[in-house]
Amino acid sequence: MSARNASNSLEPREEWGTRLGFMLAAAGSAVGLGNIWRFPFVVGESGGAAFVLIYLAFVLLIGLPLLIGEISIGRGGRANAMDSYGAVTKSKKWKFNGLIGIIVNFMILSFYSVVSGWAFYYFILALTGNLVAEDRDYGSSFGGFISDPLMPVVWQLLLMAIIIFIVMGGVKKGIERWNNILMPTLFVLLIVLVFRSVSLDGAGEGLRFFLEPDFSVINSGVILAALGQAFFSLSLASGVYVTYGSYSRSSSSITGNAGGIVFLDVMVAIMAGLIIFPAVFHYGIDPGSGPDLVFITFPAIFTDMPFGTVFAVIFFFFIFVAALTSAISLLEVVTAFVKERFNISRKIAAPVTGLVIAIVGVFASLSFGVLSHVTLIDRTIFDLLDFLSAEVLLPFAGLVMSIFLGWIWKPAAVKAEIEKEGNRFPLFTLWSFLIKYVIPLVILIVFLDSLGII
Ligand code: PHE
Repeated sequence: MSARNASNSLEPREEWGTRLGFMLAAAGSAVGLGNIWRFPFVVGESGGAAFVLIYLAFVLLIGLPLLIGEISIGRGGRANAMDSYGAVTKSKKWKFNGLIGIIVNFMILSFYSVVSGWAFYYFILALTGNLVAEDRDYGSSFGGFISDPLMPVVWQLLLMAIIIFIVMGGVKKGIERWNNILMPTLFVLLIVLVFRSVSLDGAGEGLRFFLEPDFSVINSGVILAALGQAFFSLSLASGVYVTYGSYSRSSSSITGNAGGIVFLDVMVAIMAGLIIFPAVFHYGIDPGSGPDLVFITFPAIFTDMPFGTVFAVIFFFFIFVAALTSAISLLEVVTAFVKERFNISRKIAAPVTGLVIAIVGVFASLSFGVLSHVTLIDRTIFDLLDFLSAEVLLPFAGLVMSIFLGWIWKPAAVKAEIEKEGNRFPLFTLWSFLIKYVIPLVILIVFLDSLGII
């Protein structure tokens, strides 16, 4: 039985409520912890502005063109992340690339839920007036929290329960409507915080770190990290856009939506950087302090500013919501696949999938404490899941996807899908050149370079 029949036999394929529905849900997936939490700490570890420039180049050169192609695969295929590859070409061979995406979603959610749980906890701390700046010994209470064997796991499991519940109900108008209100408010709040942060003493040093490139810090590891960050932050090649695109109508503008997603995603990341780095240097925090960076810096800013407690509550609420909308997309990709492949209902597929992911996720959480000594290629379970998904599997799936789009499904067919209901595909020739030659080559070179082969 084909996957398409499998989904039809149970319930008709779901669709977004409005034309904006796809855009909001897709932007909700892209904008998340990747922008507010991961971007600043990876910039910090990679030496600052030079990394940011390379990341931006990858976003424009590789991210945007692939995003256009990935949405087209879903809208054309009308099936889950794996079967859409088969549906648009009538060939089964390339489905494996969709499967890689599904596996990566699984891996990402297992560590993403850990950090989302931290954000959830910080929101509740702020709400109950218990958020404290760690003014002398930076990071001690945060460090104590994340290394605890129980507390972070409880918050992580609570978060998983929430997203399972939402995904069980289908991607409803509720999420669309929430995104509609929350995304603009998040923007306003970020702008307020940027002003607050750049006016701190010592802000100049932070801004220089973030904006003045020093190319001597660039090495193959930094370039791979920038490529990984571009893929991770855009949710690229993970099957999110195939799955979400499959619920969208043929009249939606794929190129317009892709442009909007990239713009929003980059803006939020840059604003997060403009907030974090001035504060990092003002409070004397080490920019390379890793996953802790945001959770140590933000409480410091808030406890030190007028109406800080109010800002803290709203801000952590938004980080929580931004994480939630991304986590929903991660679970949705795997759920859609399980539901259509095994011909079971969403009500069963979502909790079963979520539970298995949660179990793996607990190990990721424990790797900050009792399991911190368990390492492979010098990385803890958490770091390994992050590294393998962002810096290995997503770019690899992107490489395969560009070959699929450029040489198997072919640019003319992608153009036909995009222009099916009167939309135009601007800069098509450039797109097709990038997809066929530039993108596969650049990703390949970055891989070989990071392996020390060239
Ligand atoms: N893009 C999301 C973020 O920035 C993370 C994500 C990656 C979500 C891959 C889905 C798939 O937080």
